[in-house]
Amino acid sequence: MTELAKINWGAELNTDLVNDAVQAALKTKKLFRYQYKETTSDVTHLEKEITEYVNCKYALAVSSATNGIFLALKACGVKHDDKVLIPAFTFVAVPSAVIQAGGNPILVECNDQYVISLSDLKNKIIRQRPKFLLLSHMRGHMPEMSKVVELCKAFQVVLIEDAAHALGVKHNGKMAGTWGDIGIYSMQSYKMLNAGEGGIIVSNNEELMWQCIHMSGAYENNYKLHMIEGRGGNKYRCQLPVYNCRLNNLSAAIARPQLKRIENTIFQTNKNYMLFKEKMKEFIFYLTQQD
Ligand SMILES: Cc1ncc(COP(=O)(O)O)c(C=O)c1O
Repeated sequence: MTELAKINWGAELNTDLVNDAVQAALKTKKLFRYQYKETTSDVTHLEKEITEYVNCKYALAVSSATNGIFLALKACGVKHDDKVLIPAFTFVAVPSAVIQAGGNPILVECNDQYVISLSDLKNKIIRQRPKFLLLSHMRGHMPEMSKVVELCKAFQVVLIEDAAHALGVKHNGKMAGTWGDIGIYSMQSYKMLNAGEGGIIVSNNEELMWQCIHMSGAYENNYKLHMIEGRGGNKYRCQLPVYNCRLNNLSAAIARPQLKRIENTIFQTNKNYMLFKEKMKEFIFYLTQQD
């Protein structure tokens, strides 16, 4: 068996699975979420299904995780030159979103497990006095979250979880993305839900969610087409800039059937991860034998 043949393609986009949903969405000719004058768009359904899956109150689908992080940072109050801690093992979109929001990214060391070092996190919090931690769960790996939350609470640091890679990852029984004040998932093609592009913001904080909804582009009365209740809908109307990073309805239609099968995708992806890990071990062994 060649090495290529061992790769498990079960985690790839299953076009049979999404075809009916995409055709149905196309037939409506309504590709913009706010063309649905009730909360019946695929985007709204996807948001509801995500809240049920990760067990949180509110969700907002957006055009990418990068834009989701940007909106979350703005909603959390990042202002010009505010320090935002991020783990040093990162991806270019992460410090970019911080810069886009006007913040100043500060790197925190990672440990030998490639997750944030709790001792350096404490050091940086004490020395730099940041107001924000943007914590990326790279490749779905998470630090001891109860300790991170404890530190953030003790020093009044707002915790924003970049769970772009980590939809469906549970840590001590709680979903990645729901530990902090706000969390963000990606639906770009290499992630657990493949909508081509897309992101989802989740939170239990109504105020943060309303701000994200307005800034994402729910102009005029479109905020009323979100399945979230409370005074924030009206309060933030015309009070915030609109950055137009909504998710289109077709992308949501592609994502929804995949969410129903996400445990299978996670299983298939993990199989490839284990294969890759095995191959890396063999390769490193081979290199050590060369001297
Ligand atoms: C850790 C991390 N955060 C955020 C993002 C941004 O995701 P998106 O491509 O949906 O903007 C990525 C993209 O791969 C990522 O790797």
